[in-house]
Amino acid sequence: MRCDTAALTSAEIGAIARRIDRPIVLVGLMGAGKSTVGRKLAALLQADFVDADAAIEEAAAMSVAEIFERFGETHFRDGERRVIARLIEEGHRVIATGGGAFVNPQTRALILERTIAVYIDCDIETLVQRTGRRNDRPLLRNGDPAQILERLRQEREPFYAEAPIRVSSGSGPQHDTALQIIEAIDRWL
Ligand code: S3P
Repeated sequence: MRCDTAALTSAEIGAIARRIDRPIVLVGLMGAGKSTVGRKLAALLQADFVDADAAIEEAAAMSVAEIFERFGETHFRDGERRVIARLIEEGHRVIATGGGAFVNPQTRALILERTIAVYIDCDIETLVQRTGRRNDRPLLRNGDPAQILERLRQEREPFYAEAPIRVSSGSGPQHDTALQIIEAIDRWL
């Protein structure tokens, strides 16, 4: 059977999935679609999916925005590092991370050593549009989101570029991005 938009059959995706021996970790800026693409990717690979921000919120019993407000960003980054290390240790197959996670040297080293890191790159316009749908990202609350995202992209691009796999996602279907990732992993493995 052929998957609707892909050149890959379900059997081919299954064969690629069996060769993937490490978690796939999605990195990239806020609004790049890491969680949505991650869910679709996991469904295609018949694997489990976990969102690191959701796991942090569960562990802290409060929202990311509340953690920033009450304890500050440094505290959040520390929790983020520990939670991501645990998720990798637990062997989840597809993990979406928050946009700043891969900037932390320890988190980045761990992801690069133990997982397949995939950078989802995305144009600023789409990032602004997607992040504008919710108001729960503390870093976008104090200023013009487009300018903040531009600055973060400049600062973080050198780190994201360390991921061995990079795919571009735009305003098109995120299912296609998930398929692009599978094809890129197939070539890379
Ligand atoms: C952040 C991204 C957010 C969240 C926090 C900080 C960042 O996650 O972890 O608000 O530093 O880019 P998403 O990338 O899932 O929005």
